[in-house]
Amino acid sequence: MKQRVRAARALDGEVYPPGDKSISHRALILNSIAQGNARVSNFSQAGDCLATVACLRALGAEIESGEVGELFVRGVGKGGLKEAEDVLDAEDSATTMRILTGLLAAQPFLSVITGDESLRSRPMSRVIQPLRLMGARIWGRSGDSRAPLVIKGGQLHGIRYQLPVASAQLKSAVLLAALFAKGDTIIKEPMPSRDHTEILLKAMGAEIEVAADTITLSPSRLNAVDLIIPGDISSAAFWLVAGAVHPQASIRLLNTGINPTRSGILDVLRSMGADLIVQNERVLNGEPVADLEVHSSALTGVEIGGGLIPRLIDEIPLIALAACAARGKTVIRDAQELRVKETDRISATVGELLKMGAEAEELPDGMVIYGGKKLRGASCDSHRDHRLAMMLGIAALIAEGETEIDNAEVADISYPTFWQDLENLSSGQ
Ligand code: S3P
Repeated sequence: MKQRVRAARALDGEVYPPGDKSISHRALILNSIAQGNARVSNFSQAGDCLATVACLRALGAEIESGEVGELFVRGVGKGGLKEAEDVLDAEDSATTMRILTGLLAAQPFLSVITGDESLRSRPMSRVIQPLRLMGARIWGRSGDSRAPLVIKGGQLHGIRYQLPVASAQLKSAVLLAALFAKGDTIIKEPMPSRDHTEILLKAMGAEIEVAADTITLSPSRLNAVDLIIPGDISSAAFWLVAGAVHPQASIRLLNTGINPTRSGILDVLRSMGADLIVQNERVLNGEPVADLEVHSSALTGVEIGGGLIPRLIDEIPLIALAACAARGKTVIRDAQELRVKETDRISATVGELLKMGAEAEELPDGMVIYGGKKLRGASCDSHRDHRLAMMLGIAALIAEGETEIDNAEVADISYPTFWQDLENLSSGQ
């Protein structure tokens, strides 16, 4: 699908961002192997999360749909999953593939898991390595580094493991395996990554201790919990940046998760000078939530890197766009992980923004953007990357003339109502 977007005269209104994608995956996976029944509300309708539901059902999980965004899970308990009759398909979702690989490594049956072309090109050895140290038998293509993966599950043992990258998918894969292992597992992170798995494990009664950079998990049984999934800050971020960079904007984002391991975008926008207000802070099932309000702002460039990067890893294409509208230079470093996302997000972000008249260059681990160049409509491509497609949609709202975004339907991977929300918020396109 080709999406055409013209500059909006004004951006105004309220949005409930879709249910958080990361929490949705975890809510379903953990409740499926728990004891008891759970009702999960505001579950993300994103393609990635639906892939997790399909994989879990194929493994014998009992999941029924209620109203939109409502799922009822009858936990099958710790030993209740069954061998799937066919290959599991994680589609475009690395979270599905990596976390389920941890779970499947500990089940007494064989699993084969694959994904789409993009997912089959992404690194999987980072998950295979620690799981093998736990005794798992896993193989993959390209010297055990790419999917499809073959997992011959069995009894695992706990390990002490220093994660080589700050990745919540990797951390969660090891935690899932550790639930079933003999003995404790101790994980150290180089920098804090999103901690939704730890929060949920605690809420479900697992024996888990989190201290500074170390997580200790003992083999545990889980109790099912009802959950209301907070709105996804990574989806809200499109409107936060749109509101800040558009000269005539006022946008409210209701019920948005602001977990500190995810809220780096708020810190960066504030340090760029954004007019951003956080209201009605509350805690929902252990996850901090708030309503956010953003108004047109005069932004200035920033330098970001280090421990901030995992807290905003998915928002970097948007930060690049904010930097285009800012005064001065922005430097983004320590973000080499972007090269192994749905596409190489460093080269795709810089390449597409250059087409729109930005002044930007790639660094091996990030990019430099020289702000202040007026963007102009162009013929752009999402590279079949949902976050790229949506970032270009926001860029189009401040560009001169019309922007065409090819393969724009991929927004469904994380935010199925994105193009509708864009139309609802825009006036005078
Ligand atoms: C996610 C973790 C991050 C993030 C991805 C979702 C998760 O990936 O980029 O969109 O839900 O655990 P990494 O674990 O590869 O850093």
